[in-house]
Amino acid sequence: MATLYSTTCRSHSYSLLPSSSSPSINGQNHTQRLNFSSCIVKRALPAKVSFPFRRNSLLNAVLMQDGAVATAVNPVENETPFKKLKDGLLSSAPSTEEMKEAASFDVNKDKSTVSITVVGASGDLAKKKIFPALFALYYEGCLPEHFTIFGYARSKMTDAELRNMVSKTLTCRIDKRENCGEKMDEFLKRCFYHSGQYGSQENFAELDKKLKEHEGGRVSNRLFYLSIPPNIFIDAVKCASSSASSGIGWTRVIVEKPFGRDSGSSAALTKALKQYLDEDQIFRIDHYLGKELVENLSVLRFSNLIFEPLWSRQYIRNVQLIFSEDFGTEGRGGYFDNYGIIRDIMQNHLLQILALFAMETPVSLDAEDIRNEKVKVLRSMRPLQLEDVVVGQYKSHTKGGVTYPAYTDDNTVPKGSLTPTFAAAALFIDNARWDGVPFLMKAGKALHNKSAEIRVQFRHVPGNLYNRNFGTDLDRATNELVIRVQPDEAIYLKINNKVPGLGMRLDRSNLNLHYAARYSKEIPDAYERLLLDAIEGERRLFIRSDELDAAWALFTPVLKELEGKKIIPEYYPYGSRGPVGAHYLAARYKVRWGDLGIEQ
Ligand code: BG6
Repeated sequence: MATLYSTTCRSHSYSLLPSSSSPSINGQNHTQRLNFSSCIVKRALPAKVSFPFRRNSLLNAVLMQDGAVATAVNPVENETPFKKLKDGLLSSAPSTEEMKEAASFDVNKDKSTVSITVVGASGDLAKKKIFPALFALYYEGCLPEHFTIFGYARSKMTDAELRNMVSKTLTCRIDKRENCGEKMDEFLKRCFYHSGQYGSQENFAELDKKLKEHEGGRVSNRLFYLSIPPNIFIDAVKCASSSASSGIGWTRVIVEKPFGRDSGSSAALTKALKQYLDEDQIFRIDHYLGKELVENLSVLRFSNLIFEPLWSRQYIRNVQLIFSEDFGTEGRGGYFDNYGIIRDIMQNHLLQILALFAMETPVSLDAEDIRNEKVKVLRSMRPLQLEDVVVGQYKSHTKGGVTYPAYTDDNTVPKGSLTPTFAAAALFIDNARWDGVPFLMKAGKALHNKSAEIRVQFRHVPGNLYNRNFGTDLDRATNELVIRVQPDEAIYLKINNKVPGLGMRLDRSNLNLHYAARYSKEIPDAYERLLLDAIEGERRLFIRSDELDAAWALFTPVLKELEGKKIIPEYYPYGSRGPVGAHYLAARYKVRWGDLGIEQ
């Protein structure tokens, strides 16, 4: 039997253990939306059909970092895709088409296939992130043996033209350049294109026909990646689910934010999606959850004795979640102006990190257990107050003879727009662990650098014997843990130590886990991890609908107030460190932003 996954895809064993709460890859719960043909197959098939796709991934899940080998995980029989069907559905009489489909399903072709359709294939996200991530997975041997990729969009394009477009953005791992060209050619041969309208059942039915040809009678699993604007989400989901979903395998849909603009619109979107999909078919992506250091957050907390006991109001003074970009909304003004930085970055990326940072220990690493804890902590948070928010917008700035544009210079942005391109906020979690600890968020575009980090500032040492060595700046003498999500991933802890020598001089040093120095392996892009998870049915890193509700509940009142009162943002020069208001906000809670010092 061919190996479908290489050991490089998943070297941690836990995520591969089948979870009782998350349906198995083949056990997609089709309930109401189940095609009748599946029921015919159920009757025609033996009780157990094995699906090597998942099982091999389990068998390979034992090689650990640094060559250590973990105990092998016993492969667990998968449920057949038909096990979960509602018995009631079996009572209807099969049509001729359905009989034919059942007859053509060959159990001896024991390999399943995955068809990945990128809806919105000619868009920026697809070109820059999705196709390259799929190629990287293919290159690493992480995609199943039988897979096909379809690009779907409105523009007319041939397969060759799609391949040409895709080929321009594919890159090879720095550490694995050998055979790269060959691998690219092989990958591109598995990419196809179908042109169609997003709301056309007929066009999706044509796609279905093509997918079937490629699937060749195998158990066909289908993943749709919706990389399209929110106003056409529902049309596309409706058509994909009713005209192109799999009859004899799972069908999953990855949706990209924005998931609405506030609590009301988000709830309406969820309701509309659930007309066509079950919750466990919906994979709401937040690509920050796929970033290596965000993934590592739980490992850091829950597998190191030294951190978890300190992880509370008792030892932590404040937590800072900082996102900055050194470019403006170039080209995305149309989208951005309708959302602003709070919806674009804070309500999702930064809040998700906060939830992982602050949640209680989950019962297990199962997706549902982790998501339950995230929801709990989000629901313990106080809705953000207007006085705890500072908003800013970048203005034009000339530096070194170059003039950088203001936000409102973008042609796609309405003149006089008040949409914030920067925001700072102080949030609080009203639970026993975090009572009174400020969680400060700061996010901005067109700032002086590009970075994302978590800063944990610890309390002062009570009765510190070395107080006089620190002079008046006691703040600098407290420990700080920095998790630099990007760029140049690192986790470092600032400690105080003695300068070597006969005198007694104190110094600040970093205990530094610098990824580039520690690991030669290139860090995979967030989209690779998330796509692989979606294919494997691992939901841990995707947002559940109740999580989304809780996230919107925190930000909706303040967004309404900011917009209702037409609060004027504080203008900051392009390429600066952002509005000074952010410092006053932090100072109100006796906090100093950790990213501002000379020594960061
Ligand atoms: C997206 C936002 O979700 O994240 C963009 O919509 C932002 O505005 C991007 O630029 C940042 O992602 P990354 O991975 O480049 O930090």
